[in-house]
Amino acid sequence: MSNDTATVADGNRVIIFDTTLRDGEQCPGATMTLEEKLQVAEMLDEMGVDVIEAGFPIASNGDFESVNEVAKRVRNATVCGLARAGMKDIDRAGEAIKPARRGRIHTFISTSPVHMKYKLQKSPDEVYEAVIASVTRARNWTDDVEWSAEDATRTEHDFLCRCVEAAIKAGAGTINIPDTVGYTVPDEYFALYRMLLERVPGADKVIFSTHCHNDLGMAVANSLAGVRAGARQVECTVNGLGERAGNASLEEIVMALRTRADVMPYTTGIDATYLTRASKLVSAVTSFPVQYNKAIVGRNAFAHESGIHQDGMLKHTQTYEIMTPESVGVSKTSLVMGKHSGRNAFRDKLKQLGYQISDNQFEDAFARFKDLADRKKHVYDEDIEALVDEKLATAEDRMKVLSLLVVAGTMGPQVATLTLDIDGEHRTVQAQGNGPVDATFNAIKALVPHEATLELYQVHAVTEGTDAQAEVTVRLSDGATSYSGRAAHPDTLVSSAKAYLTALNKLMMKSDRLHASAAE
Ligand code: KIV
Ligand code: ZN
Repeated sequence: MSNDTATVADGNRVIIFDTTLRDGEQCPGATMTLEEKLQVAEMLDEMGVDVIEAGFPIASNGDFESVNEVAKRVRNATVCGLARAGMKDIDRAGEAIKPARRGRIHTFISTSPVHMKYKLQKSPDEVYEAVIASVTRARNWTDDVEWSAEDATRTEHDFLCRCVEAAIKAGAGTINIPDTVGYTVPDEYFALYRMLLERVPGADKVIFSTHCHNDLGMAVANSLAGVRAGARQVECTVNGLGERAGNASLEEIVMALRTRADVMPYTTGIDATYLTRASKLVSAVTSFPVQYNKAIVGRNAFAHESGIHQDGMLKHTQTYEIMTPESVGVSKTSLVMGKHSGRNAFRDKLKQLGYQISDNQFEDAFARFKDLADRKKHVYDEDIEALVDEKLATAEDRMKVLSLLVVAGTMGPQVATLTLDIDGEHRTVQAQGNGPVDATFNAIKALVPHEATLELYQVHAVTEGTDAQAEVTVRLSDGATSYSGRAAHPDTLVSSAKAYLTALNKLMMKSDRLHASAAE
């Protein structure tokens, strides 16, 4: 395994370490299938991410398999597996990254008093010894070892310096200083790196990394403060996906560095024109909507609605635009599609929207576009994105909706007649419910008995007008993990059934995997 990621950090080049597939996926409901993880990894690799943290191999056989598959497929980026300080964790991560052209083990242990006392129930000396043992073990697998001091921003400085020094001596080339609970502020985080760089022997020989959570909304600001203080790796996720309030957002870090190079003269290897596509892909496969006013990739990020702003924009775009939509991959086109639009126009549209899909996927998307155009006068970009994204997220479905008829209204009870394709077999049932959505979900439960509980049911219109597609998000839980599904259709009940099935497919796929691995 060759390991030259570290050399990228010469001068002012900032290494982008993406942890969408690990810290991002830890977010409840953001579970991705193997196929979805591979799609995301491929996109990250293409857009120029330096390090892809692909998962936590000891967590489950599924996690091991996905890190291992990502390691086989990725061409350019370093592929990283996470491990706690235990030997089994590290060996599992080492096995998982073995096929990578460049492989990294990222091992961590908590160093703050509260974590050591209550979570680990270890003394500082025991933690110190574990730092040395874990990094040493990881170095037996690869030259590229990253060590993290979990909850570093609430760690006593003397102890943090001691552990960082030990990790460097044991052979870690990257030292990560996570703000695990999103507690720090930019000035404090800046001072922490300066303190470490000044006090720790050997600090000038390694790359310091930032890893910020967004609990107080400062993850990006804190990461940039870390870079200004000397860190040359930033850990981040697409759309800021991550536990609780999420992680620092990749697209915001990249565009802040680019747009304000005058005050932050640092570069990354990211091709920013991929940012919108990556955001859409991650949103589609996790079924996590991107908030409309999200910086860089939100639907409204480049929309100018007020009269004064529109007037300014018409006179000169720089009046209200600090970066162009094209620079982040948003194409300026308002070509509205309809039932007379043909294959070529549709293919062109997909290209403009940034989709690269196979011929089979194209045929399927075109058929569904025609179907939609028959029901809806104008098919907007958002409609097309919804129909392609839905398919990206349901590539491995065992169960599909074939037909749905619902009787609703004031007379009650509401009744749903549903036919599903389940592993190739067509099965029909009729069920009642307290409302049409309840009846539809009861019909699914009758055809596919399961114990999952419904955690979230959300509907919004993709575009304006009464013929707009309804985009439904459903989140199911099996008690341990949450699974999300999203679907769009002009009929709210059809999208509800499809979204429910997408989440259920993911849940079933996981239990199939568990059964398969238990049988091994
Ligand atoms: O937030 C955190 O501290 C982490 C570590 C595992 C790096 O995610
Ligand atoms: Zn984290």
